[in-house]
Amino acid sequence: MSSPRGEFSSTFGFVMAAAGSAIGLGNIWGFPTQTAQNGGAAFVLFYLILTFVVGYPVLLAEFTIGRHAKSNPVGTYQKIDGGKNFVPAGFLGLFTVGFILSFYSIVAGWLTAFFVHPLLKMIGADSAAQWVVSQNTTSTVLFGSIFFILTILIVVGGIKNGIEKWSSRFMPTLLIMMLVLVGYVVTLPGAMEGVRVYLLPDFDKTMNPQLILSALGQAFFSLSLGVGGMLVYGSYTKKSENLVRLGTLVTLCDIGVAFIAGMLIIPAMYAASAAGTEIFDANGNLISEGNLIFQVLPALFDSMGTAGIVVSFLFFFLMVIAALTSSISMLEVPVAYAVDNRNMSRKKAAMLIGGFFWIVSIIIALNMSTLFSGVITLTTKYSQPILGLIICIFVGWVMNRNKLLEELKQGNPEIGNSLFMKIWPFFLKVVSPILILIVFLQSFISW
Ligand code: PHE
Repeated sequence: MSSPRGEFSSTFGFVMAAAGSAIGLGNIWGFPTQTAQNGGAAFVLFYLILTFVVGYPVLLAEFTIGRHAKSNPVGTYQKIDGGKNFVPAGFLGLFTVGFILSFYSIVAGWLTAFFVHPLLKMIGADSAAQWVVSQNTTSTVLFGSIFFILTILIVVGGIKNGIEKWSSRFMPTLLIMMLVLVGYVVTLPGAMEGVRVYLLPDFDKTMNPQLILSALGQAFFSLSLGVGGMLVYGSYTKKSENLVRLGTLVTLCDIGVAFIAGMLIIPAMYAASAAGTEIFDANGNLISEGNLIFQVLPALFDSMGTAGIVVSFLFFFLMVIAALTSSISMLEVPVAYAVDNRNMSRKKAAMLIGGFFWIVSIIIALNMSTLFSGVITLTTKYSQPILGLIICIFVGWVMNRNKLLEELKQGNPEIGNSLFMKIWPFFLKVVSPILILIVFLQSFISW
């Protein structure tokens, strides 16, 4: 019998949902941009190492305590011995993820507009097509709202019929579409230069400590860590699932898609440059960093003629899907709290909480210049690393080691004497917290 809280019905569904949460704007936009800025392959190397050394241990910690308590971040700390003092961190997670959703939906709204753009062009509505992608306040609010409503509707659908169904259907499609696009982009003139930058490290830049720190931050945001999204998804898994294996699969999917996204976007940038779009300034820095995707890629698609309309439609479609499978995991965190701790119905919780953060996102959209980057910095640079650190302290130092082991043994009986159990707790106790602390301190210094 499945639990009344809802449960993933299959291993595949769980992996797709958790990978769907991890894979989003962070991978497909953040990772390629940061790679291009930070010396190409050198950044990729550090990102890969740090994802395994820091991201993976914290991810497993979230899965394990979530499934152990079968609850949301607040409920998890309330239920596990020694967790009472950590409850405020649970609440901080609920709010942080809500605010992340508020800015995320704005960027995802722009993607939605770029997805609609080629459709309008196809029917000859050229001035409407221009208006939707102009990123003016009205179109930003309109498309951000469309994206937000979609998120709420999927979360209302619940675990099996909402999140799992959507993720299982679209994540594989996303992967296939990206591979097809990579195949297309690398044939374009100039694209090979991008492939070279992406795959051959520039070791001059490797010496820059900022590079390592940005790679750590990227690994952290990309795996959705700290705010409880992975904890809540862990709470919806069956006891018979092998969490170590699932965590490995999710991490590999996250890395895999980031890697493929890099293989798509970096050569596309160089192809755009060969086609006459300026992407670097005189010093070799990327122009318009944050907005690159919205300037360079449409220019690239335009230069492809009619085929470009189709490619642009496919590309932005898959971007919206990737963002959606992340945004539903964000809204699910406070919704799970309302359902578990406040006995609210899922529908009411999704509408009320979703409605609240939707209003927050409209307020941000109406005050872009003052609020937008501030909210991003507060949530992702400060709150996420602090919360990740707190999870390490709780699981590494406070939680009873036997309880942790018992939980992991379910679905993986041999784990007790494995090398994994010798290494993982040490990472959680010492290595990961120290590295997270470095990211956190760095965000102070660079601000
Ligand atoms: N990992 C998501 C991405 O890469 C972002 C995210 C952050 C999702 C926090 C959930 C929680 O886009």
